[in-house]
Amino acid sequence: MKTAKFSRLGFILAAVGSAVGLGNIWKFPYVTGEYGGGAFVLIYLITALFIGVFVLISELLIGKLGQSDAVSMFENLATKYKKIWKFAGFVVIVPLLILSYYSVIIGWILHYITISFEKLPSTVHESKATFMALLQTDYQTQLFYHTIVFVLVTAIILKGVKNGIEKINKILMPLLGIMLGILFIYSINVDAFSDAVTFMFNPDFSKLTSTAVIVAIGQAFYTLSLGMGIIITYAASLPKQSNIVRSSLIISIIDTIVALVAGLIIFTLLFDKGAESTKGPGLVFISLPSVFYEFGKAGEFLSILFFVAIAFAGITSAISMMEPAVLYLIQRFNMTRKKAAIICSIFFYVLGIITLFSNITDFAPALKVGSKTFFDWVDFVCSTILVPFGGILVVIFVGYFMDKQKIRKELTPLMGKTFLSIWFFMIRYVIPFALIAVILNETGLFKF
Ligand code: PFF
Repeated sequence: MKTAKFSRLGFILAAVGSAVGLGNIWKFPYVTGEYGGGAFVLIYLITALFIGVFVLISELLIGKLGQSDAVSMFENLATKYKKIWKFAGFVVIVPLLILSYYSVIIGWILHYITISFEKLPSTVHESKATFMALLQTDYQTQLFYHTIVFVLVTAIILKGVKNGIEKINKILMPLLGIMLGILFIYSINVDAFSDAVTFMFNPDFSKLTSTAVIVAIGQAFYTLSLGMGIIITYAASLPKQSNIVRSSLIISIIDTIVALVAGLIIFTLLFDKGAESTKGPGLVFISLPSVFYEFGKAGEFLSILFFVAIAFAGITSAISMMEPAVLYLIQRFNMTRKKAAIICSIFFYVLGIITLFSNITDFAPALKVGSKTFFDWVDFVCSTILVPFGGILVVIFVGYFMDKQKIRKELTPLMGKTFLSIWFFMIRYVIPFALIAVILNETGLFKF
């Protein structure tokens, strides 16, 4: 079945829209804080720009040569073991799982937009109480916003690649750029900006542990939406003349710049008010709101701008999480887009509801398995095991099981022979081991 293709700009914006998300604006700053600032940033930059770009090229290659849904592409492009490789395509289920909790978090962000308009918490204490009340008791509000995200994402996906995904990214991504630009310019003029720069770019190598390196690799994968069939699926709708090497550089450079800018904005504001940065979700939902309050009238404006920006970033990523599974159903089962979209969105919606209730105090014990809530389990299994595992499948597939001649023909004109050899070497011998290290470390099977 033929579907509409992206325009060249549309593709870049859609891929950047997928990559730039909560991972950049919410997660990157807090892991940077946790792993000691500059040294972590440096490792992250190296991994995002090298490992990230190498894997991005691999995924774009599969999509461009495969031109179908993820499952069919693995099956069709494999030079041997086609029936087995087909199963690699089932990574498309992973983003749908991620979407179930991602949607709940976007819901919190939407709620914080309204809080920014009404009344920001005046102390960290109050801020914590506000967030905990939302998280642990207020399931009505969470359900309401989760439903809004569900409706929005489904409506966009129903419109297809060109009129849905491309169009929304063409609107939201430039707006996101403008909003982050305003926040950044504001931060530059705040005294603590230089402290934020020092914190992020002055590496203290004594803080650099092997765990930090492993976390940086995991973060690079998550933030670039790799290992989940997303880039592969989007690339199947690439226009013929696109240069996949250039595209992957552009995608990872923009994604990295957004993470750095978001980090600088957040640390500037936090440091300026001497705020203690809370770990994890608390950084954005607890520390920041009370810091915004301290900035007075300007703070309200900054808060609205910040939460709208992160909501836009989240929505464009959320859409990308649904498309791979939708395209799979359309292509393999001859379904209409409508039917496929409804099946996938109900799946993530229901799972999201369970996720959401797993944080509600009255329901938490029933939805707890071992030491983790259902919410934590989904995030843990997806981000620390399935995403790196998907990455391993991609590089092994491209490195060992695709037609080498075809790859050479496609890539040599774009990157030259030497670089092609380096790329091959990396995806065959380096990246699979780096990703195995990520899984071992994060699951605690082996701590580096
Ligand atoms: N790249 C997104 C981010 O940084 O927030 C996260 C993401 C997108 C994860 C798409 C999974 C996904 F399928």
